[in-house]
Amino acid sequence: MDKSAKIEYNGKSYDFPIITGSENEEAIDINKLRAETGLITYDPGYKNTGHCISNITYLDGENGILRYRGYSVDELCEKKSFLDVVYLLIFGDLPSSDQLTKFQNDIREEALVDEDLKKIFKSFPRSAHPMGVLSSLTSALIAFNPLNETKISIHDKKGITEDDKMYMSTVRLLSKFPIISSWTLRKIKGLPLNYSNNKLSYTENIAYMMFALPNREYIQNDVITNALNTLLILHADHEQNCSTSTVRIVGSSYAGLYASISAGIGALWGRLHGGANQAVIEMLELIKNDGSDIDKYISKAKDKSDPFRLMGFGHRVYKNFDPRAKIIKKAADQVLNDLGINDPVLDIAKSIEEKALNDEYFIEKKLYPNVDFYSGIIYRALGIPTEMFTVMFALGRIPGWIAQWKEMRDSNNPIGRPRQIYNGPTHRTIS
Ligand code: ACO
Repeated sequence: MDKSAKIEYNGKSYDFPIITGSENEEAIDINKLRAETGLITYDPGYKNTGHCISNITYLDGENGILRYRGYSVDELCEKKSFLDVVYLLIFGDLPSSDQLTKFQNDIREEALVDEDLKKIFKSFPRSAHPMGVLSSLTSALIAFNPLNETKISIHDKKGITEDDKMYMSTVRLLSKFPIISSWTLRKIKGLPLNYSNNKLSYTENIAYMMFALPNREYIQNDVITNALNTLLILHADHEQNCSTSTVRIVGSSYAGLYASISAGIGALWGRLHGGANQAVIEMLELIKNDGSDIDKYISKAKDKSDPFRLMGFGHRVYKNFDPRAKIIKKAADQVLNDLGINDPVLDIAKSIEEKALNDEYFIEKKLYPNVDFYSGIIYRALGIPTEMFTVMFALGRIPGWIAQWKEMRDSNNPIGRPRQIYNGPTHRTIS
């Protein structure tokens, strides 16, 4: 018998179907709730609200499981390149070697940025936060690459299908986003802007664009490429988080892919989300400069009257451990070791983790290190400035945003439009 959930209200009983996902997650389908009962649900922060059915990423917060299209992130980090994972997320399966080659070549073909976009970039002050610059430039890309991907028409006048447009938009964004991201880093460092090196793999090319110095031979460093590969894969998707939901909801109005992703970059920027990786390093620096008194800061984090929180700790869905944090901690150790770097903030981070994991407050609230706790330590070791950390997150998250946007559009979801409970003044007149 099909399962259902009963709601008793105003002396009447209503049945709502239970829907079950492929991993046996269950949800009450309240599609008809308002029509049948006149009620809406109240769920600030959408803590209990599923806003889509998705085939992309499976996350079990209680058991620390994260899989993309069925593959665990641990295995993907171990055996696959970031570009394989990009393909997997967007197209549903790992690519064959021919598919990967074609995808890579198509991305290389688009590795140019209009000189007028460069002018816009150059007009930003050097002090501008790179996330703001990137959000603006991603939006500006629409003007230079006007493909209006919607499902309204099947063919445009030139006979280009919506699928062709989607593919072109995808390839262009995957090609141009790393270029403009590397420009933001080079501007901070006062280096000349550069372009792709089409002989390199996708991840190697990101490292090249960021780190190649003028008038010096560029030597590929496998430690850096491997670390970047792991970080980018671990950030590639995370189901319905704040920025991804933003991308979906913006796209649900039939806004284009770039406009939606530009909004997602804005959402990711905040310190409670992707901006936490920058906030973690700033916090660790603060503690170091304040005499490394870790107990003092653990106490501050526990004090309700103190706004201080342990950045990089806690997660909306992981209540056991964040599987990404485990992989990143190992990678941080390895990168520092391989590059021969002794970073005192890593020792502070480890002490904080040890103390917090044994502290009643953090145990009771199920607060564990999240993906951002150790990622900044790797970025620092690679010579990436702190304000660029969230950009590195965005570089990894682009394929997830594209995959989620595409899925939302393909499934013809209705426009995202939550309701509210109005609690302001009742009707009044101007006397
Ligand atoms: N330090 C101290 N206390 C914390 C922390 C923390 N980092 N995180 C949560 N808590 C406490 C809260 O004060 C709250 O206590 P209460 O129940 O007594 O009121 C309780 O734990 C639950 O916290 P909420 O903020 O209600 O949990 P929510 O699911 O809304 O927030 C979040 C999750 C935003 C990640 C939160 O844990 C946080 O602010 N962490 C620090 C920022 C951070 O690292 N963000 C990155 C998340 S990963 C990502 O987005 C990529």
